[in-house]
Amino acid sequence: MKAIKVGLLGIGTVGSGTFNVLRRNQAEIRGRAGRGIEIAMVADLNTERAREIVGDAAVVVSDARAVIANPEIDIVVELIGGYGIAKTLVMEAIAAGKHVVTANKALLAVHGTEIFAAASAKGVIVAFEAAVAGGIPIIKALREGLTANRIEWIAGIINGTTNFILSEMRSKGLDFGVVLKEAQRLGYAEADPTFDIEGVDAAHKATIMSAIAFGIPVQFDKAHVEGITQLQAADIKYAEQLGYRIKLLGLTRRRENGIELRVHPTLVPANRLIANVEGAMNAVVVQGDAVGTTLYYGKGAGSEPTASAVIADLVDITRLHTADPDHRVPHLAFQPDAMNDTPI
Ligand code: NDP
Ligand code: HSE
Repeated sequence: MKAIKVGLLGIGTVGSGTFNVLRRNQAEIRGRAGRGIEIAMVADLNTERAREIVGDAAVVVSDARAVIANPEIDIVVELIGGYGIAKTLVMEAIAAGKHVVTANKALLAVHGTEIFAAASAKGVIVAFEAAVAGGIPIIKALREGLTANRIEWIAGIINGTTNFILSEMRSKGLDFGVVLKEAQRLGYAEADPTFDIEGVDAAHKATIMSAIAFGIPVQFDKAHVEGITQLQAADIKYAEQLGYRIKLLGLTRRRENGIELRVHPTLVPANRLIANVEGAMNAVVVQGDAVGTTLYYGKGAGSEPTASAVIADLVDITRLHTADPDHRVPHLAFQPDAMNDTPI
């Protein structure tokens, strides 16, 4: 069978990782997907850099719309980021009948309801494993492994940049600004790192998990959001002297009168597992009524860990698309479950 053709929009940190991992592990991935997955076209503003990455393996263009307009492309992977052009392109790709994979939590946390409704009407998939906790398959865990459960709460370290900053400040006594620059150099931080350090990125991810776990619309505007910019080195030191570590936690919980959704620095006893999650690692704890407490741990940011999640979505879509090439069945499993009006 011919390879399924993918168009990549944006070949920066995550896009280049996706291209490289797909190429390196192509035999395994082909075996798992049932056919090859080929990045046939790449759009990026910097076409020279894009060509250096892909060589002659894919057509490189500067206009992302040329990818969407190509009838040979079945799946569009949006790795540009932000709410602006990324939203327009995702909506256009859906309207053109393409499946979409995105790592863009900001886009989904704010416009997810509109995007999923459009995808559902068109019978295409919008998949977003990479949008939450980088390489950790937490979306799959919530939707598949834990699907029998009434989820009670989810809490975790879901921003690699801030966890890296807090870890380096505590263990090496480094300055906030110095560590932030290093997080940017390592490809962990958002294009606008304010989203990381002010807790916005973690709130985007908590919003998405909340929608999936509790079957509510994405409502980022209702989240309580507090970042780490007000923390001083002395706070971290005093916390340690008292037997605590400061962690930026994202939390969503079922309450009697609604759903709680919040992100803020938290004092965690130093002997708890989550207090010992260091660097850019993420950890998510999910409490289900049947399974009890489960813990998911791994790299929450960076080029190849995030690519791992993007490619998992590509494999899923390839399997479904191969079984149902005309999208006769809307793939509702990829959208937040039956919506309800539980207030946040
Ligand atoms: P980068 O900034 O590294 O890459 C984005 C790329 O898109 C850049 O090469 C940029 O070009 C290009 N671009 C910008 N505008 C356009 C356009 N109109 N058409 C085509 N290309 C364009 O970002 P990341 O790879 O880090 O992030 C991508 C997405 O993945 C974001 O949504 C982010 O939140 C998400 N994500 C990132 C993770 C990470 O660890 N980095 C982890 C999980 C999710 P130029 O540089 O010239 O502007
Ligand atoms: N900026 C994000 C972080 C990238 O640091 O966690 C992964 O979503």
